[in-house]
Amino acid sequence: MAKVIDGKAVAAGVVEQVTAASNALEAQTGARPGLAVIIVGDDPASHVYVSSKSRMAKQCGFKSVQHTLPAETTQGQLEALVASLNADPEIHGILVQLPLPGHLDADPVIQSIRPEKDVDGLNIVNAGKLMTGDLEGGLISCTPAGAMLFVRQTHGPDLSGLNAVVIGRSNLFGKPMSALLLAANATVTTAHSRTRDLPGVCRNADILVAAVGRPQMVKADWVKPGATVIDVGINRIDAPERGEGKTRLVGDVAFDECAEVAAVITPVPGGVGPMTIAMLMANTVTAAMRAHGLKPPAF
Ligand code: GUN
Repeated sequence: MAKVIDGKAVAAGVVEQVTAASNALEAQTGARPGLAVIIVGDDPASHVYVSSKSRMAKQCGFKSVQHTLPAETTQGQLEALVASLNADPEIHGILVQLPLPGHLDADPVIQSIRPEKDVDGLNIVNAGKLMTGDLEGGLISCTPAGAMLFVRQTHGPDLSGLNAVVIGRSNLFGKPMSALLLAANATVTTAHSRTRDLPGVCRNADILVAAVGRPQMVKADWVKPGATVIDVGINRIDAPERGEGKTRLVGDVAFDECAEVAAVITPVPGGVGPMTIAMLMANTVTAAMRAHGLKPPAF
C-alpha cells in the first residue's frame, strides 16, 4: 500500500509560513498583502471556491476584497474593474475566477492584469518566465506550484534520471506543470487525449501527474510499480451507495487499485485541492513583499 500524501497538512504548513511572512511585512512597512478576487455570474462551484479563497486570505492576515459581478457584466465593465485594481497600491494580487460566462472573453481580461499582480500566473509574462526557466522572478500558477511541492517533498529538488508524465496540456495546469518538472531536471512527457497508447506511456513514469477531468481514468496497470502518483482531477460522480441522489468527489486516478502499485499517491479530496488555495496565498504575499522591495520566502 502506497504512502498517502496529506494535502491538508502540507497546505497548513504553507499557510503558516505565509501568515508569518504577512505579519513580518506588516511589522516592517505597516502594509498588509491585498488580494482582490473577481467572480462574474452565479456558477455555484465557482462561488464555493471563491468564498474559500477569500476566507483563507483573511485567515492569513491579508486585506481581502471580493468583487461579485452579475452574469450580464460587459467586457468593458470587467476590464475597467481590473484596470482600477491594477492601479490600487493596496492590492497586490488580482484573481479573476474562471470560467467566465460565455459572452465574455477571458483572455484579454487575464492579459490585462499587471504581471506583478497576476497571482494565478496566467499572464504571458509569467508563463514566459516559467518556460524560460526563471522560477524566481515571476508568479507560478497555483495548482502546479502545489503539486510540485509534493514532488519535491517526495524526491528532493533534483529529479535527474526520473521520467515524469503529465496527462493534460492546459495553460492553467498541464503546461506549467511540465515546465516545473523539466526545470527540476526530470525527463518530461506531456500526454493528452491524442496520445497513442496512453497506458503504455504512463507505465514509463516514475512521477505520474493526472489532470484530465475524467473520473478514475488512470488504472492500476497504467502505474509503474513504486511510482509517485499525483491526482489533480476533481470529479463529482453519483454515489447511490450513500443514498438516493447522493454524489461524491473522485479524482482522475482509480485510487484504491493504484495505491496497491504506487509508492506515493495523493487522495481526492484532501490532496492537491488544499494546496491550490495555499499557493494562491503564497503568491499574494510574494507579490506584496516584492512591491515593498522585500525578498519573499521560498515556498
Ligand atoms: N477556476 C478553476 N481553477 C481556477 C484557478 O486556479 N484560477 C482561476 N482564476 N479560476 C479557476
